[in-house]
Amino acid sequence: MNITIVGTGYVGLVTGTTLAELGNNVYCVDIDEKKVEGMRNGIVPIYEPNLEEMFLRNIQAQRLFFTTDLKEALDKSEVIFLALPTPPGEDGSADLSYVLQVSNDIGEMMTSYKVIVNKSTVPVGTAERVRETISAKTKIPFDVVSNPEFLREGFALEDSMNPARVIVGSSSEKAKEIMAQIYQPFTNTGIPIIFMDEKSSELTKYAANSFLAVKITFMNEIANYCEKVGADVDKVRLGMGSDDRIGHRFLFPGIGYGGSCFPKDVKALIKSGKQEDFDFQILEATEKVNQNQKTILVSEIENYFGGDLKGKKIALWGLAFKANTDDIREASSLDNIKMLLEKGAEITAYDSIAEGNVKKILGDQISYAKDMYSALENADALLIATEWSEFKNPNFELMAKKMRNRAIFDGRNMFAIEKVENSGFYYKSIGRKTVK
Ligand code: UDX
Repeated sequence: MNITIVGTGYVGLVTGTTLAELGNNVYCVDIDEKKVEGMRNGIVPIYEPNLEEMFLRNIQAQRLFFTTDLKEALDKSEVIFLALPTPPGEDGSADLSYVLQVSNDIGEMMTSYKVIVNKSTVPVGTAERVRETISAKTKIPFDVVSNPEFLREGFALEDSMNPARVIVGSSSEKAKEIMAQIYQPFTNTGIPIIFMDEKSSELTKYAANSFLAVKITFMNEIANYCEKVGADVDKVRLGMGSDDRIGHRFLFPGIGYGGSCFPKDVKALIKSGKQEDFDFQILEATEKVNQNQKTILVSEIENYFGGDLKGKKIALWGLAFKANTDDIREASSLDNIKMLLEKGAEITAYDSIAEGNVKKILGDQISYAKDMYSALENADALLIATEWSEFKNPNFELMAKKMRNRAIFDGRNMFAIEKVENSGFYYKSIGRKTVK
């Protein structure tokens, strides 16, 4: 099948590459000429494990093409995926201007039946607005489908090639059949495809992400309470997760959730609720608890140093919002850096993958180390903000030699308590006993 993808951001690029891998001819459209030129020359604009290999393979096989010409791509394909940004506006609601502008252009340019598939995370009712926008421009028949994406950064290809389920919101039998055909390689291997109306499909995405944000936040509160009563959150987590109604995943406490999806989607759902005079009380609480959780270790560091952080040298391991990505959107590291700098601390950070993105925002307000141990040179304390695997099994003796004071504040519970116990380090993690 010939398929067009409009927007080569994270979702567009991964979806396009996956659909090409499944044997389709995929035309990726973007307005950024430089980016399109780069992709034509095999340059992948984002970091994602294993993406480059699959991307290059499909370019070589002549199944994956890039253009700035929407009309050319439209003429070639019956199915058009929209993978456009829907950034939060100032009030937290999703900004639909890109989606509606492209819908308008499609309405003006199309010359035959099209299925317009919304991959972007969009508020309930967007399929209807896309339909109205296109209808205002053309009499040619078309269908609008909602087909939300559930990719995790760092596992995008894995999630995209082997999704837990495919959700298709459509009220047209013809469009449903076309979507079923596209996803046949998945359904053949037993991956379920769930058909529903457009609005339910649009809400499924928000509900799923918000639920996971609530799940994490709930565990963060349990972890904070564990510290009050002397329980161990690792044990509680195992005990809870073994009930398969709860499950083990997304129960890991830490310094809050970040990234491009959870914070944005929770805010947008709260905002959509307000528009219907509906208060999502659980989501409002989640946002508040998460914001607090992000910098919960700063007050611990401050207390440890008797309330004064002026001139204290803090080493920071990890800048990305989670491991295996260079993404720093809504990363807890940034909130911690801001607060620590305000309190007069000096920061040396190490994160070889995300460093470039942080430099663009913070420049030389902090120092950057070339490896995890040199970040510790003369440090008074280490703060761990991202769970990169290279931090999992450090050489505590070498760490002790480098640092002028032995204190670790671990926002990701990287080490077993017993492992740190004889190392001579003060060790504060989340929801577990403090090693002194
Ligand atoms: C998420 C969803 O998982 C994905 O389905 C959706 O399409 C986009 O949003 P992503 O933002 O890439 O994906 O990351 P995810 O792995 O879900 O983690 C989100 C945040 O939660 C990170 O900051 C992570 O550190 C945090 N987290 C996750 C926890 O604090 N504890 C956990 O147990 C799991």
